[in-house]
Amino acid sequence: MSCDFVRATRPLTGTVRVPGDKSISHRAVILAAMAEGTSHLSGVLDSADVRASVSAVESLGARVSFGERDHRGLSMSVTGWGGYGPHEPQWHVECHNSGTTARLMMGVVSGWPIAVTFTGDRSLSKRPMRRIVEPLSQMGATFEVDAGGSLPVTVHGTDHLAPLAYPSPIASAQVKSAVLLAGLRATGRTRVTEPTLSRDHTERMLPAFGVPVIVDEAPGSTVMGPAVPRSTDIVVPGDPSSAAFLVAVALLVPGSEITIEDVSLNPTRIGFLHVLERMGALVEAVESSSDSTDPVGTISAAYSAVMTGTTVSAAEVPALVDEIPILALVASQASRTTRFEGVGELRVKESDRLSAIAEGLGAFGVSVRTGSDWLEVDGPCPLAGAVVDSLGDHRLAMMYAVAGLIADGVTRVERFEAVDVSFPTFGDVVGALLPDEEA
Ligand code: S3P
Repeated sequence: MSCDFVRATRPLTGTVRVPGDKSISHRAVILAAMAEGTSHLSGVLDSADVRASVSAVESLGARVSFGERDHRGLSMSVTGWGGYGPHEPQWHVECHNSGTTARLMMGVVSGWPIAVTFTGDRSLSKRPMRRIVEPLSQMGATFEVDAGGSLPVTVHGTDHLAPLAYPSPIASAQVKSAVLLAGLRATGRTRVTEPTLSRDHTERMLPAFGVPVIVDEAPGSTVMGPAVPRSTDIVVPGDPSSAAFLVAVALLVPGSEITIEDVSLNPTRIGFLHVLERMGALVEAVESSSDSTDPVGTISAAYSAVMTGTTVSAAEVPALVDEIPILALVASQASRTTRFEGVGELRVKESDRLSAIAEGLGAFGVSVRTGSDWLEVDGPCPLAGAVVDSLGDHRLAMMYAVAGLIADGVTRVERFEAVDVSFPTFGDVVGALLPDEEA
């Protein structure tokens, strides 16, 4: 499905909420499935990716019943397999586009004596799985995986998983979470260290399920196994990665002022706000009280006529890894060059995002250069409407839509339906901020 966008001729203003956080939703569903008893989850993101995790845990024996939906998403009750463990599914576990489902669930099943085959869509089937296979093999699980190290992957789990001290070569929350979740089935101390702290939702949520986690300065995270999570209630806050697109709308469309309420302000997720502040953008985050495992609050952003390019260092990248497409668009409207360093991981996301950003923003007339792990964007540059393809990548689809709101002429985004992966209501939320004549 293609979708056309034209320049917004009036400011977008208002207060909105965004759907539940994708990473937290996955973990709430997965930990509830591993737990003894029935957990109640609310605000769960209703998107294709999270549905993949729900189907995965159902096929392994968790019972999920859906309750009411509110502005953020779904309520559900999940009765977990607890100490009995998951059963071997009758069919493969189809993860669709969701790397988080595939990678975390490999960790979950590796500690049980079952064989599970994980499959994915075309994009996910190109993404690297060795980063998960390697540490879980060291713990004692065995794998059928092709030489390219991608899906389909069959995990042969074991009751006798060994604990592991794993120095992860990459700052990846998916790797860290897979090993920690497997560690709950090993007897002893499983510790993951990483070069820079990646998003820490697993570490924050495990204690809510009664499983202590020791977090140290390395940065490292340790769990003691064996441990069976106990059911609990989880409230999922809004997704800062979805909020980032609305922040960009506010910064770029003259006169706009947008406030996003009830959004996670987890420090491992809001690196984009610090970069934007450094560029001179009018953004502010204010924490409020929270019944979530994350800090929660309000993000406000206003049109920022004067922004200056910056250098985003490799150490900053894990806290904004999903926001680089939208930051690259903002950079195209700031003076001078913005450089992103240490962004090689973007080549193995839902698309090769470095090449896609260069090609896509290039189509709007922006000068962009990339190397194996860096990206440079020159600004400020007036955008010319373009025909661009999301490549099935949700974050590219939304970045192009925002570009269309400030470009001359018409912008056509092909495969716009990719937004269903993380922000299915993107069009409605942006529409609600438009003055009546344009909605
Ligand atoms: C995620 C972790 C990140 C992120 C992805 C979701 C998670 O990936 O890019 O969208 O939920 O753990 P990596 O951990 O591989 O960097």
